[in-house]
Amino acid sequence: RIRRAVFPAAGLGTRFLPATKAQPKEMLPLVDKPLIQYAVEEAVSSGLQNLIIITGRGKNAIEDHFDVSYELEKILEERGKSELLNQVRAVSDMVHIAYVRQKEALGLGHAVLTARGFIGWEPFAVLLGDDVIVGDTPCIRQMIEIHERYQTSVVAIMEVPGNEVSRYGIIGAKPLESEDGRLFEVKDMIEKPTVREAPSNLAIIGRYILTPGIFD
Ligand code: UTP
Repeated sequence: RIRRAVFPAAGLGTRFLPATKAQPKEMLPLVDKPLIQYAVEEAVSSGLQNLIIITGRGKNAIEDHFDVSYELEKILEERGKSELLNQVRAVSDMVHIAYVRQKEALGLGHAVLTARGFIGWEPFAVLLGDDVIVGDTPCIRQMIEIHERYQTSVVAIMEVPGNEVSRYGIIGAKPLESEDGRLFEVKDMIEKPTVREAPSNLAIIGRYILTPGIFD
């Protein structure tokens, strides 16, 4: 059973500079919530309860966001702003989160590796807060169901225009006939291929189910 979800959030966010100079990319707002809250809500509504966020220097805002904000709650209460108060409380009531520090931003793989000691020998979910995915059934829930059927690692993909393949990890894959053309068996994956090298236009996006063998 998949119980744990890892949220790597220790990257430097250089592509969003200067917005990310003094605040984490994961805290940039989309409408009225920071990006990472969408991913956390997706995990919680998919039944994942054991959440681990990988942070680093300059990422304290993420911890504060999911913590109780005593002073803010008190002021909202005094001013009778009960709806806002409920919204603020809901964020910290939602879930218990453990934080692991990645001391140096050595890449996504290394970020996941820092969570190894907290995961043990079981499959787990990875959600990247900077990909926001909307679905009636949450994306990671769909992937958990696929993992339960096939007992293997699962990556989410999306179709990208042919000239954009060099921005993504691209899979070489065979569609599984019993699955409506939406599920593929991965034969190969290439990080940021040229248009010529790319085996398809199916790009890996920020949702993964990984089996613990990944650590070796
Ligand atoms: P990105 O590839 O988007 O890297 O990481 P980044 O550093 O955040 O941003 P750019 O490329 O400099 O603009 C994908 C995910 O992996 C995390 C990021 O926080 C993001 O959620 N990550 C990346 C880490 O946790 N640690 C790292 O060392 C690198």
